[in-house]
Amino acid sequence: MKITFYGHASLGIKVNDVHILVDPFITGNENASSIDIDALKADYILVTHAHQDHILDVEAIAKRTNAVIVSNYEIANHFESKGFETHPMNHGGSWDFEFGNVKYVNAIHTSSFPDGSYGGQPGGFVIEGEHKNIYIAGDTALTMDMKLIPLQIKLDLAILPIGDNFTMGIDDAILASDFVECDKVLGYHYDTFGYIEIDHEEAKRKFFDKDKDLMLLEIGESIEL
Ligand code: NI
Ligand code: MN
Repeated sequence: MKITFYGHASLGIKVNDVHILVDPFITGNENASSIDIDALKADYILVTHAHQDHILDVEAIAKRTNAVIVSNYEIANHFESKGFETHPMNHGGSWDFEFGNVKYVNAIHTSSFPDGSYGGQPGGFVIEGEHKNIYIAGDTALTMDMKLIPLQIKLDLAILPIGDNFTMGIDDAILASDFVECDKVLGYHYDTFGYIEIDHEEAKRKFFDKDKDLMLLEIGESIEL
């Protein structure tokens, strides 16, 4: 499994030959100007919630690639009504896709579309593929529901928001890493706006002091699991 960071909460995940994009918000992120959305491959686009900083580039990419948009029922309906192919899910549900299993899990956040319309309840994804298991938390507070995940699955990587203000910050993300029983963390949802700028070295040191590994990737950088 290959994971690429496209800035903010945008990720590319390659499982075998299947390309998955998560929460594409690239053209609106000046830090991500090196990424050309017309060059991104996508068979599936996973959307955690309806906020603009998670859906901005969904339509442009799905129109070009015919990717299937996977999200909660309300967000799937929204894109379905615009003619896109979708797969609706809801909390606690999982589905075997061609690349592996995806479960839509709880997040504590909000989920309105940019025009204020209802975007369902926000979530995260647990993905099993190529014998690797990852948790993409989405925008969320620290929540006891995270403790449910390791009851059923051994995670290889937890992707957690760390920017604070709109989501968990560093200290809560360290607790989240305990809750999901995964010491290997990829941080996201930081530095994009003034509200969520963080001190990278301090963040890494705080994880290191708890015997945990916080990875912060450059935009466009990838890791292999
Ligand atoms: Ni949000
Ligand atoms: Mn967000």
